[in-house]
Amino acid sequence: MIHFHRVTLEYPRTKTKALYEINLEIKKGEFVFLVGHSGAGKSSLLALILKRLEPTGGAVYFGGENLKGVRGDKVALHRRRIGVVFQDHQLLQNYTVEENLTFVLRVLGVNQTEWENRVTRSLRLVGLVHKKRAYPEELSVGESQRVAIARALVGDPQVILADEPTGNLDPANALAVLEIFKAVHARGATVLMATHSRELVEAYPQRVVVLKAGQLVRDEKVGAYSLS
Ligand SMILES: Nc1ncnc2c1ncn2[C@@H]1O[C@H](COP(=O)(O)OP(=O)(O)O)[C@@H](O)[C@H]1O
Ligand SMILES: [Mg+2]
Repeated sequence: MIHFHRVTLEYPRTKTKALYEINLEIKKGEFVFLVGHSGAGKSSLLALILKRLEPTGGAVYFGGENLKGVRGDKVALHRRRIGVVFQDHQLLQNYTVEENLTFVLRVLGVNQTEWENRVTRSLRLVGLVHKKRAYPEELSVGESQRVAIARALVGDPQVILADEPTGNLDPANALAVLEIFKAVHARGATVLMATHSRELVEAYPQRVVVLKAGQLVRDEKVGAYSLS
């Protein structure tokens, strides 16, 4: 589904080498934790998958296609295959929960007759159907983040990228968010979650890829990760 072949990334302006010779293959339906300290390169790696950045060396493949060849209008189409969740929910403040989700469906060109079903299904998954008329400022931090997840899922993406989705949450809310990602994974989605939370990784024994100063230093198969 996602394949990094000897990927190197250097930020041109500062000449920061963020990633070195990364080799990584993520299969369809896998759940992968991407862990590493701040500055290890996690967000940079996700940005390459979204084609927000271009590798300075090597190649990134998505569904077998080299992203280098994805240009122009095709970039937006590529991004529509991916649901993204950030640390900050980034909801539109002047729109209700429901409108935040239908906004995505409009952009995706989903027929309006399907909107209500899609929105309800997505909000049900995060347990917030009853909040569909609320505005973001009327939600708790945990609820906002769950709405952001519902928004990432409403277009039925093949792949979900989450960049420290529990970074602003207390442990109970973090685990609630993890439960949602577990359910999404169980339904067949491919999930790549950047985190530096040991609690999360311990709570869901899945494959763990460890970045350290831009290098992939460990890649532990499902259940094999230990903190030693
Ligand atoms: N826009 C940028 N311009 C220059 N350097 C950057 C930029 N974004 C990140 N970096 C650098 O790239 C490295 C990896 O950063 P990042 O991918 O954000 O790590 P993480 O998400 O693991 O905290 C760091 O050294 C960081 O300072
Ligand atoms: Mg980051």
